[in-house]
Amino acid sequence: MDDLMQIKDLKVYYPVRGGFWNRIVDWVKAVDGISFNIKAGETYGLIGESGSGKSTTGKSILGLQKVTSGSIKYNGHDVTKKSVRRSLKYNHDVQMIFQDPQSSLNPEKRVEEIIAEPLRNFEHLSKHQEKLRVLQLLDIVGLDPDALYKYPFQFSGGQRQRIGIARAVATNPKLIVADEPVSALDLSVQAQVLNFMKKIQREFNISYLFISHDLGVVRHMCDNIAIMNHGRLVEVGTKEDIYKHPVHIYTKRLLAAIPSIDVEHREEHRAERKRIEKIYQDKKDFYYDQNGKAFPLTKISPTHFVALPKDKLRQLNVSTDEEVES
Ligand SMILES: Nc1ncnc2c1ncn2[C@@H]1O[C@H](COP(=O)(O)OP(=O)(O)OP(=O)(O)O)[C@@H](O)[C@H]1O
Ligand SMILES: [Mg+2]
Repeated sequence: MDDLMQIKDLKVYYPVRGGFWNRIVDWVKAVDGISFNIKAGETYGLIGESGSGKSTTGKSILGLQKVTSGSIKYNGHDVTKKSVRRSLKYNHDVQMIFQDPQSSLNPEKRVEEIIAEPLRNFEHLSKHQEKLRVLQLLDIVGLDPDALYKYPFQFSGGQRQRIGIARAVATNPKLIVADEPVSALDLSVQAQVLNFMKKIQREFNISYLFISHDLGVVRHMCDNIAIMNHGRLVEVGTKEDIYKHPVHIYTKRLLAAIPSIDVEHREEHRAERKRIEKIYQDKKDFYYDQNGKAFPLTKISPTHFVALPKDKLRQLNVSTDEEVES
């Protein structure tokens, strides 16, 4: 599979202003040098705690946030420049699904208008063609035709998220950035919406950048995953690498935080979470550099990268890629 997106050494710093002159006194390094690639048709998970820089990364990819340095390539073209985005019709091919369908859908517009909006920006359809297309989109997301004339508040949370999805797929995008798309929904509805995103993905060969703070939610969604921690990536790998063979303590901590539905082993689960938390607290100077930042990534297999120097990996009995191959 070819890479659809290539994100290379991306940095996004926000200025912190202060003092009498309101000058820039510091920078928040929200994204501090991250690289990853998204293949056509895959779901790429970007996972980390609150404030780790996930949304900033997503917004940069969409062109909604100016980048400080680095490149974001779409089919080989750097889309960090507005002129390039425009000439490629990039914002036609790359869409977004937001966390909270309540606030991301205009409450004063009817569903027909909401879904047709991206079409109007890019395609020149007659009123009749437009209506047919919106009806088709409603059908794709499993909503009745009479939804056309309703307002967002007349739907449940899950239904509203379907409307958001219908709008995102209206232009037949190649990539959808889904920023916490199910976090605002009940557990039972979450599964429904996720299944549904999978189904649409297969039908239309869409790639997803799936942003979440919860490794439990994305377990069945993602092909590849990057774990983000304070603006850096601490571990990158396939689903298998991350869930079955995690190496960085931060990844293990996120895994331990997945709520256990297994009632019988709940006590063990809690003990394990405590054990991991203790290592995380006690071993910060092992897992992070002297400034408390994550180390650069080291390749430990053709697909698996961990933010630890080789000597530390050896201490953990993890062999690095060269050793694997030799
Ligand atoms: N417009 C902004 N101006 C200044 N700082 C910002 C701005 N947006 C985000 N930040 C800061 O950048 C860091 C990363 O924020 P971001 O929203 O990308 O995190 P996140 O991983 O999406 O978190 P969450 O899970 O809570 O949504 C945070 O420290 C945040 O306070
Ligand atoms: Mg966010």
